[in-house]
Amino acid sequence: MKNTLIAPSVLAADFANLQRDIEMINASEADWFHIDIMDGVFVPNISFGMPVLDAINKHAKKTIDVHLMIVDPDRYISTFKKLGADILTVHYEACTHLHRTLQAIKAEGMKAGVALNPHTNVDLLEDVIQDIDLVCIMSVNPGFGGQSFIENTYLKVEKLKALINRKNATTLIEIDGGVTNKNAKQLADAGADVLVAGSYVFGAQDPIATIADLKQITK
Ligand code: DX5
Ligand code: ZN
Repeated sequence: MKNTLIAPSVLAADFANLQRDIEMINASEADWFHIDIMDGVFVPNISFGMPVLDAINKHAKKTIDVHLMIVDPDRYISTFKKLGADILTVHYEACTHLHRTLQAIKAEGMKAGVALNPHTNVDLLEDVIQDIDLVCIMSVNPGFGGQSFIENTYLKVEKLKALINRKNATTLIEIDGGVTNKNAKQLADAGADVLVAGSYVFGAQDPIATIADLKQITK
């Protein structure tokens, strides 16, 4: 039996009732808070920034998993540490010197993550996988919540899992985008360790029961 981690994406929360939604996640079986930071340059959308993360951090009682969809993320590594990030994920496509960026994240005392766009091959991480705590496989094109899941993701998870095993790495595999009760089990079986879910959780009648259900079906 495995313990697949569930990370609700706060992007889909009700921002006029943010504290209520944070307390809901605290009270649920969710494992992490997934925080999407978008700059309007790397992705064609702007989400929210530092003051909002600061407010979330004041109430969140679980691991804060920050997904940076921004160009030149090195500029903000120490800022996100101060704002409470436990895991800081940068995009492969946004980092010219990925190895250096990963070391800088770890030097701040955070876990280092790398996100891959749907077109980016997992094999590109071969020479750096042992330095990565978490690989976030994007199962939609980053920028928006509520998009539909790209089916090729299952193959990417299997390939990445094989690479991690081959290299004796301890890297976690996270899936981000379009996760529902329809694909969660197959993703966990393929090797996913963490499932991000935004609209599926926050759009549900009963988000706490929906999170519990995702935990249950991915065991
Ligand atoms: C997309 C974000 C995702 C998003 C997931 O760019 O990185 O984390 O919030 O939302 P859903 O689960 O609605 O696809
Ligand atoms: Zn995300």
